[in-house]
Amino acid sequence: MRITLNTLQKMAQEGNRIAMLTAYDASFAALLEAAGVESLLIGDSLGMVLQGHDTTLPVAQRDMVYHTACVARGAKRAFIIGDLPFGTFQISPQDTFRNAAEIMAAGAQMVKLEGGRPMLETIEFLTARGIPVCGHIGLTPQSVNQFGGYKVQGRGQSDAERLLEEAKLLEQAGAGMIVLEAIPAALASEITAATNNMPTIGIGAGPDCHGQVLVLHDMLDVYPGKKAKFVKNFMRAAGSIHGAVETYVKEVKARTFPGPEHSF
Ligand code: KIV
Repeated sequence: MRITLNTLQKMAQEGNRIAMLTAYDASFAALLEAAGVESLLIGDSLGMVLQGHDTTLPVAQRDMVYHTACVARGAKRAFIIGDLPFGTFQISPQDTFRNAAEIMAAGAQMVKLEGGRPMLETIEFLTARGIPVCGHIGLTPQSVNQFGGYKVQGRGQSDAERLLEEAKLLEQAGAGMIVLEAIPAALASEITAATNNMPTIGIGAGPDCHGQVLVLHDMLDVYPGKKAKFVKNFMRAAGSIHGAVETYVKEVKARTFPGPEHSF
């Protein structure tokens, strides 16, 4: 039976950790869900790990539609989230709806978009019209040029207060889930405690989030580029890709990943 947003929200309420990984094709989608991953994210990280770009900015809408359809054909059970790429949602809510609807028609059950306060109107618009939205705050990679690099966010008090406030506003606007990327573990813990029914999925956000996500090519040590501190190489101690993913799921559930060495 298909895992739904309700399933994941219930898991979060009951204190069961959610294991999410990125996926970009049908074979990996099938392998990941067989190894126990509950949610698959077709991340625009594909621009870096599949296409070889330095950032996620060049990823096109057609790329996301294509890879979402590939993952959807391989995954029978996992909850599928498709990223909205740069430039496809920082526009009118009406035009964003058209782009989000294409990702949903390709097989996603939710779309993810980066940003806080400026995205509230769009999130309200999409969710009121049947498209579940996952927010994404902290180190939002599409804003790398605004940040001046891939830097941890929310370290100062005013920035931390802004992120906490934005998480609350995103939930009020209708976001059903939120990714917290590269922020101090204590702040992620505070945001997680402040949510009512919006699971927090951490990547470089400490162990207290309702779930964890990593980029598949990072945790399998396939991506040749620089690794962030929050990445763990699960392949090193595993005999197979399936084994590496099973260990990831086990460690997320047991709250042993991420450890202090992967957190800020
Ligand atoms: O694009 C992606 O893979 C992501 C994750 C890093 C959360 O947004």
